[in-house]
Amino acid sequence: AQVAEWKAEGLTIGLTPTMGALHEGHMSLMERAVKECDRVVTSVFVNPIQFGPNEDYDNYPRDLEHDAAIAESKGVNVVFHPEPEEMYPKNYNTYVVMETLTDTLCGAKRPGHFRGVCTVVNKLFNIVQPDKAFFGQKDAQQLAIIMRMVKDLNFDIEIVGCPIIREADGLAKSSRNTYLSEDERQAALVLSRSLKIGKQLVEDGEKSAKAIKDAITAEINKEPLARIDYVDVVDFETITPVDEIKGTTLVAIAVYIGKTRLIDNFIA
Ligand code: PAF
Repeated sequence: AQVAEWKAEGLTIGLTPTMGALHEGHMSLMERAVKECDRVVTSVFVNPIQFGPNEDYDNYPRDLEHDAAIAESKGVNVVFHPEPEEMYPKNYNTYVVMETLTDTLCGAKRPGHFRGVCTVVNKLFNIVQPDKAFFGQKDAQQLAIIMRMVKDLNFDIEIVGCPIIREADGLAKSSRNTYLSEDERQAALVLSRSLKIGKQLVEDGEKSAKAIKDAITAEINKEPLARIDYVDVVDFETITPVDEIKGTTLVAIAVYIGKTRLIDNFIA
């Protein structure tokens, strides 16, 4: 009803979809949305269907009061915070499944994850009817998938990808950083450090995906608390592995630090 009222007034609507536990990464999306749209909706919904059975759905950090205060301080007009039973009532039966793009990187490691993401993002787009929606490049595969979905399904929505926001020491901001102990927090720096090495190689003219992957892998393997989930070099649009850096190429990693799985990337 609120969106309909705004639309009747000719105002543009921005949406920043989140799962809450808001940090500076989310804040940068809100700031951009507030700058580019007349009204901004932030959704805060820990989407159960994008978590696997052994993942952290139950433990995922939740603090609506904190999130609402942050959203308000950034000039967001509405926080949309549905309950799981409202989004997926009894007999809920419709899902959005993408044929490719979802079976590599995080999709290979988290079966069903992107089905859950595509489904909830579809629902959020239909509920909020935004003109623009803002997503972080930290979840680069998710961003590529949503861009593809919007094209494929003819959504009249502009998808805006926003840069990764990092801590002063390089760690990419993530709601999951709160899981890290002090030692793990230190060890987690290996993600950004290893990517920096990869990026430097690219800047120095290295084209071989294998050489870049090997250098990143070697750096991560030096850290005893780290366990590689994947180190991959893929075409950003199709998310398929490439042998050579050309066009828009995504260099993406997922690394367990203790029990916490962290992701990071750069676009070459
Ligand atoms: O990136 C996230 O926080 C989630 O995957 C999203 C896009 C809000 C869908 O639940």
